Amino acid sequence: MIPVERTSRGLELLLGPLPVDHRGRWLEAALRDTIRSGRLSIGSILPSSRALARDLGCSRSLVVEAYQQLSAEGYVTSRPGSATFVTGGAGEDEGVRTAHPSGAAPGAGEVRGPGSYDMRPGEPDLSTFPRSAWLASVRHVMQQAPDGLFGYGDPRGSVDLRTILSSYLARVRGVLAPREQICVSTGFAQALRLACDIFRAKGIRRVAIEDPSHPQMRNLITRAGMALMPIPVDEQGIRVDELAKSGARAVVVGPAHQYPLGVVMSPQRRAALVRWARDRDGLIVEDDYDAEFRYDRAPIGAVQGLAPEYVLHVGTVSKSLAPGLRLGWLSAPSKLVSTVMEIKSTYDIHSPVLDQLTIAHLIETGRFDRHIRKVRQQYRARRDTIVEAITAKFPDVRVRGISAGIHVLVELPSDISEDAAVSCAAAHSVRCVGLAGHYAIPGPRTPGLVLGYTSTAPHSLGPAIRALLRGLEDARCAAR
Ligand SMILES: Cc1ncc(COP(=O)(O)O)c(C=O)c1O
Repeated sequence: MIPVERTSRGLELLLGPLPVDHRGRWLEAALRDTIRSGRLSIGSILPSSRALARDLGCSRSLVVEAYQQLSAEGYVTSRPGSATFVTGGAGEDEGVRTAHPSGAAPGAGEVRGPGSYDMRPGEPDLSTFPRSAWLASVRHVMQQAPDGLFGYGDPRGSVDLRTILSSYLARVRGVLAPREQICVSTGFAQALRLACDIFRAKGIRRVAIEDPSHPQMRNLITRAGMALMPIPVDEQGIRVDELAKSGARAVVVGPAHQYPLGVVMSPQRRAALVRWARDRDGLIVEDDYDAEFRYDRAPIGAVQGLAPEYVLHVGTVSKSLAPGLRLGWLSAPSKLVSTVMEIKSTYDIHSPVLDQLTIAHLIETGRFDRHIRKVRQQYRARRDTIVEAITAKFPDVRVRGISAGIHVLVELPSDISEDAAVSCAAAHSVRCVGLAGHYAIPGPRTPGLVLGYTSTAPHSLGPAIRALLRGLEDARCAAR
């Protein structure tokens, strides 16, 4: 949670100067506008009325009145003895989060509306971003980095970060990649684009992908000029028998926590996938996007560790730190390193160096691990809350994919349709995403909701789940 002081210090700047004649409802309107435009996001804590009055140079009663009015309108919530925080606003309608990955789910029934709870999958709790640790690492980098580091560098990125990643990935994911084989990228998205360009260089034109999958990933692959081959997923992961029939020589998989089903690929399926790659000289892109978040089971190593010469392993800080950093990494087979370097340098020469050095320092000093340990505990508690609340109210609902990650799949009973669930949730101010839009091949399937439990501010998770459950009850009643 952002400390009260942090918001307080900047708020008067966001609001602008107090007009000379500030009678009427200037403050109320300025605050409303700031919330609606998204400049003050849901979950932000407002300064105390005393602190804001002092910063603005107005009377405290003016601030109290403005807070009361905004509270009545649902923009903020104040409880006696605790802080006032932002609970609503139309910010996200105005493009604040235009790039939300789930936003690309065609027909997935994304819901938008003022004052709503965000249960779309894709974003970690941004209020947990380790600001002070980050700042300490930036300070260290600025004090220590030689001037030469700010020049053009290796397309694979900072050698410091790659060296640290090499041992970090071996330690936490069992990835076998010396620093020479690691390339820093602008998140998974750019690594996937890079992989597609590698496929092209190797004469591969067909790329298999799990069905269901992230619509934005499919879009990226087809825009890269590849033909997409959707392959079904069962309880053990991608159907390797179907993959073999498809004739594709490249595949994109999420073995640690398949998106959106949340399936963990079984050891047998991993072995079959590796055999598939060896038999065909194929390439596997391993999307390890939320590997840091494991709750009820020992982590299973990356598939890359089983067959480093056939796997492009991709990691990202989008879930562990923040997607806005746009930073990830690709561990490539040794035979592909020069191609990776050539392609990456045509995109952007190399990724920006400062953030790379900062993350290297965060990992090296153990701050990154500490952050993950702390956030993992919080996410696990949230996961427990959401699973318990849903299954207590709807014993016939199956909640899947819960052992890892930052989303769950809620399989709806046959008397609740997916569209009704999404729109009834919307009527209760819950933004959520249906499962159907994640499939490339349409067909009759169990309806479901893909629910993120980390985008909602911590204090809003309980109300968000209760609102969602009321929505599901309505959806059930409507069907009767
Ligand atoms: C399945 C999947 N893989 C990877 C990512 C991370 O992508 P990036 O690193 O480009 O932010 C996401 C983000 O939502 C995702 O849903």
